Amino acid sequence: MTTEPFTLVGTAFHTPERGALEVLEAHLFGIDAQGRIAEMLAPGHPDYAVRRSDARRAGTLVELGEGQFLLPGLIDLHIHAPQWPQMGKALDVPLEVWLQKYTFPLEARYADVGYAREVYADLVDNLLANGTTTALYFATVHVEASLALAGICLEKGQRALVGKVVMDDPDQCPPFYRDADAASAVADTRRFIEALRAMDQGERPLVQPVITPRFIPSCTDAALKGLGDLAHEFGCHVQTHCSESDWAKQFVEERFNRTDAASLDDFGLLTRHTILAHSNFIDGQDMDLIKEMGAGVAHCPLSNVYFANAVFPLRAALDRHMHVGLGTDISGGYSPSLFDGCRHALSASRTLQSGVHAHLQAHERGAPGEPITHQEAFWLATAGGAEALDLPTGSFRVGHEFDALLIDTRANASNVHVGAGDDTLEDVFQKIVLNAGRANIGRVWVGGRTVSQ
Ligand code: GUN
Ligand code: FE
Repeated sequence: MTTEPFTLVGTAFHTPERGALEVLEAHLFGIDAQGRIAEMLAPGHPDYAVRRSDARRAGTLVELGEGQFLLPGLIDLHIHAPQWPQMGKALDVPLEVWLQKYTFPLEARYADVGYAREVYADLVDNLLANGTTTALYFATVHVEASLALAGICLEKGQRALVGKVVMDDPDQCPPFYRDADAASAVADTRRFIEALRAMDQGERPLVQPVITPRFIPSCTDAALKGLGDLAHEFGCHVQTHCSESDWAKQFVEERFNRTDAASLDDFGLLTRHTILAHSNFIDGQDMDLIKEMGAGVAHCPLSNVYFANAVFPLRAALDRHMHVGLGTDISGGYSPSLFDGCRHALSASRTLQSGVHAHLQAHERGAPGEPITHQEAFWLATAGGAEALDLPTGSFRVGHEFDALLIDTRANASNVHVGAGDDTLEDVFQKIVLNAGRANIGRVWVGGRTVSQ
């Protein structure tokens, strides 16, 4: 796919290295016809003035105004597209009840591709307006509806990894919503991968297929084995839920006498391109295994408040240099915004460290380890997610995709207040991470294409 090349001049914030904000003051970004960053020049560079005046003459210059800043696009590392109609409700029961009572009946409706198209078009518009330039999606068991989601992402220009969900165990999945058997689940996944790859044959495809066993409890051994073989054959991404709650963790350990992460590895499902949602209850050995295989974790702090019974040991995972990013987990999480995701990650981490029970003495109240910083939270939502997915996005670098947000701190209905003379650029960045919302997102680019404005 090609776009019109253009030049953008403005101040950008990004966190290419975890925990470290880099401010690119008044930089010039040259975007090529492939939507990639071709050059990044600081104001003192000998070519800066001529590039800028050439672009102005050609009518291809975008200049950020007062109070406007450039940010890398946000990466949602775990989201259930079919649960969009349920976002913000049905959170009154534990995970294993919620699946059977609300979620499987809703997801079953996507047998109707017309319904799927209607919901998915609204979802993708909303996510783009909230600054999500890349999403790793669970769709449903239905091949046609899952392909429809990929088609909508392609049409609207969102970078997306889409999975047809596999759930074939008749003991855990209702008759109205499951794969007929392991063989058809694996055959349908193969058909889905081939059809999706045929939709976008570019050298750097915008949409890609993902092998998606829902989680071990909903899959038979034969399906897990077949999907592990497909992961090896196609080398595509893999996603699943891992050790999310007490129930989910215990279910797997009773079935295999192994942890969730070790069991997934036994089936060939832990690869460099695997993303494990949640993983709240992984132990040190699981972390070492995930790190060794190069897999990543999608931390979903808001959803965890409802379903997980615990907080993900984020600092321990970061100390091991595991791949970690942030997921909204719609509709287990009720916000489509990864700015909210950053805030929930910050409060989860701070709460884990301080502890919660006021009846305990301060020294016995919390878990050890430093809470994350706002720079680390933003890294999780951008460069961390990109590294986990192994995609060239998430920070500004020559050769990276131009996936970016124009943040307008002076927008109507802005909750970001920047005081003249009172705030440094570092302060402005912190205020954006803690207070920016949809109202502040003036424009969104994916691969150089304007996808929301
Ligand atoms: N585990 C299996 N399926 C799901 C799901 O849809 N949401 C969450 N949060 N956990 C799951
Ligand atoms: Fe989930």
